[in-house]
Amino acid sequence: MKTNSNNEKWWIDFFKGDFTEVVLNQQAAETVSFMKEVGQVLPGMNAFDQCCGKGYLAHELDKAGLRVTGIDISEPYIEYARTRLSSERTAFVLGDAETYLRPAAFDISINWNTSFGYHEDDEENERMLIPFSENLKEGGQFFFSTMNPLFIARHFQRFIVKQVPSGDSTIITIRESRIERGMMKSDWLIVYPDGRRETAYGQTKLYSVDQFRAMFLRHGLLVEKVYGDIALSPYDEDHPSMILYGHKKQ
Ligand SMILES: C[S@@+](CC[C@H](N)C(=O)[O-])C[C@H]1O[C@@H](n2cnc3c(N)ncnc32)[C@H](O)[C@@H]1O
Repeated sequence: MKTNSNNEKWWIDFFKGDFTEVVLNQQAAETVSFMKEVGQVLPGMNAFDQCCGKGYLAHELDKAGLRVTGIDISEPYIEYARTRLSSERTAFVLGDAETYLRPAAFDISINWNTSFGYHEDDEENERMLIPFSENLKEGGQFFFSTMNPLFIARHFQRFIVKQVPSGDSTIITIRESRIERGMMKSDWLIVYPDGRRETAYGQTKLYSVDQFRAMFLRHGLLVEKVYGDIALSPYDEDHPSMILYGHKKQ
């Protein structure tokens, strides 16, 4: 199974269809509870949701009384987010999150659910951290979550098949993955209830916690806590995520 792995900006094609619901782990309410447990997430705070997707997390933060600005490059996602949530507190911006600058405007920066590391080149990836850090006030908090390379090394599965409920029927996805040049590369085949088939390609660079610590530090961000999921599990080979929490230096 081979799809469009030469597409430089693969994410523009990837993040638009219904099937991406399957890829995104939508546990927004639980995520906000986790954030409140780990950091200080209070009504009235300004939060920057970098690569906000369809705005699920922004919506939950808005319900918790925060003022959220979400940015995403996917037009259908931003349209969905705006339609679903019209709140005076929360705004959704269509644009490139690597260049969206509002210096020191936020108390919290969030980059959630593997929205980092889409390029092969490390310097290109690191560009995402410029607004992530610059948009944060001194002493502000950040939450970041991505794939856990330790988990992938131990539990690697070449094929993952899922059936996902869609109305009265199901969408079937077959994901074939490989690790190549430090990246998790996946080809997807999606079969819709009406028999329609689509293919998609996605890739994410895998970084260790130490590599992230060093990268974050270059942007004035101190990683203070690391978790393996939103149930506060330890970061190790048996928990699927890498969640980083910390502060911007004063
Ligand atoms: C895996 S999804 C996660 C979405 C969201 N954070 C969530 O938790 O549901 C990654 C998102 O990043 C967005 N994205 C990727 N590169 C981007 C960029 N340079 N600027 C803005 N959005 C980007 C994609 O459109 C997609 O919505």
